[in-house]
Amino acid sequence: MRRLFEEWHSGSNRFERPGEIILGAWQGDRLVGLGGLNRDPYTAEEGVGRLRHLYVLGSHRHLGVGTLLVGHLLRKAESHFRTVRLRAASPDAAAFYRRLGFAECDDPAATHLIRVPPIA
Ligand SMILES: CC(C)(COP(=O)(O)OP(=O)(O)OC[C@H]1O[C@@H](n2cnc3c(N)ncnc32)[C@H](O)[C@@H]1OP(=O)(O)O)[C@@H](O)C(=O)NCCC(=O)NCCS
Repeated sequence: MRRLFEEWHSGSNRFERPGEIILGAWQGDRLVGLGGLNRDPYTAEEGVGRLRHLYVLGSHRHLGVGTLLVGHLLRKAESHFRTVRLRAASPDAAAFYRRLGFAECDDPAATHLIRVPPIA
């Protein structure tokens, strides 16, 4: 989260390039989760997006908030990207992404990827 705010304040990443977005999940006026979609800065290849800063408050986990955020981000990704990648921060996060249909990938800059729209 700190990196997200630092990057926002410095202007280095405000999720404002084509296809990019940052989403918040709210319960009333309380922000309980967020997640962003960037063009993947770790590849020169066109059409590759990257999930960033997915985070759900500890008190609100296992309620489907993370799944909802990723679903919205992947639908947004369809208009600009062919693939969405990410680096899972932990084995738990890796299990979460596998359950959502992401495949593991062998790349120094990413642990998981999914084609958009996902192949049914
Ligand atoms: C990973 C994270 C975003 C998941 O958010 P969430 O809202 O709890 O996810 P959901 O409720 O949509 O989970 C859907 C399913 O994913 C799997 N899953 C979710 N969290 C998991 C975990 N910690 N370990 C293993 N599987 C997990 C489960 O199968 C879960 O279904 P269940 O709740 O019926 O068991 C959240 O745990 C989080 O913010 N973690 C800390 C930050 C982080 O690791 N972010 C990812 C950075 S790459």
